[in-house]
Amino acid sequence: MQASLLEEIVTVPNPYPVVATVEYPDVWRLCTQARDLAWDPLSIDCSDLRDAELPPEVRKAGAEWWSLRAWMEHGATPYGAERLREAIFDHQPFEVKQHITNFIAEEFRHHEASFRIAQALDVYESTPRADYFKDIIPKFHNEEDEKAMSFFAGLSVNTLFEQLSGELLQARYENARFESIRKSCQLILRDEARHIQFGRIIMRRFFSELSSTEKQTIGAKVAKKLRGSLLNGVYAVVNLPADERARSGRNRALAAEYGLGATHPDEEMDIIRRGVNQIREDVGVYGVEIPHIPELDGAASPVH
Ligand SMILES: [Fe+2]
Ligand SMILES: [Fe+2]
Repeated sequence: MQASLLEEIVTVPNPYPVVATVEYPDVWRLCTQARDLAWDPLSIDCSDLRDAELPPEVRKAGAEWWSLRAWMEHGATPYGAERLREAIFDHQPFEVKQHITNFIAEEFRHHEASFRIAQALDVYESTPRADYFKDIIPKFHNEEDEKAMSFFAGLSVNTLFEQLSGELLQARYENARFESIRKSCQLILRDEARHIQFGRIIMRRFFSELSSTEKQTIGAKVAKKLRGSLLNGVYAVVNLPADERARSGRNRALAAEYGLGATHPDEEMDIIRRGVNQIREDVGVYGVEIPHIPELDGAASPVH
């Protein structure tokens, strides 16, 4: 083997102490709930979608929408993998490692449920057709931004986004007129509620101890992620280039019109605005301030 290859082999850090004590009983409770509430995406019968009389363009729009949902769910797993590695080698308490492991497994089943819906509607697209999505999705998780925060601060920032996507998913659940889509949204929401709960627990536990610099960093990272990737066609289409904004918005509107568990682009910004204001309230208690976001808070002309 070449020397340069050998250098890339990561040595496994000392595994001891292998911690078995529970430090955060609230987190452990989430772990036992996760065991009790596990579900199998294969148990969701998607034949209602296969049998439905839907125009071909609606099937295509729905499959594109659910492919995007699948990429987003998958986008949480590289992030989870990095956190799990950190948690293991930093000797975090057992329940923290277990929760992150559950988180990864759950995001994979959200991904699976989503691509199965796309397949039942038409085809699942494994790579985005549009270039902007090819650019945007990999930026969804930025390890450099993550490392600028302490372990628990970073985890809590992630769960703030879980809260926001939970709000959007709730609206998509309400839009769904097919049992398979309703069921999928419902089960995903139930998992997301636990992810959000984890964020609340660690915020309560760690946020009062953060330095003011770290609080500022958290607020800035939330605003950056929201503007840089999530408003670029992931949560909403507002920051997309005009032609893609029109195309993508039209398809979303079509999927929403036929009750395929989508939200109309006109509704999305309101939901996000309400969600961000709720987050501002939640983190404001701890002195974390989320800076002005022109797309949501005004004072910027929307992209035409
Ligand atoms: Fe998820
Ligand atoms: Fe999640």
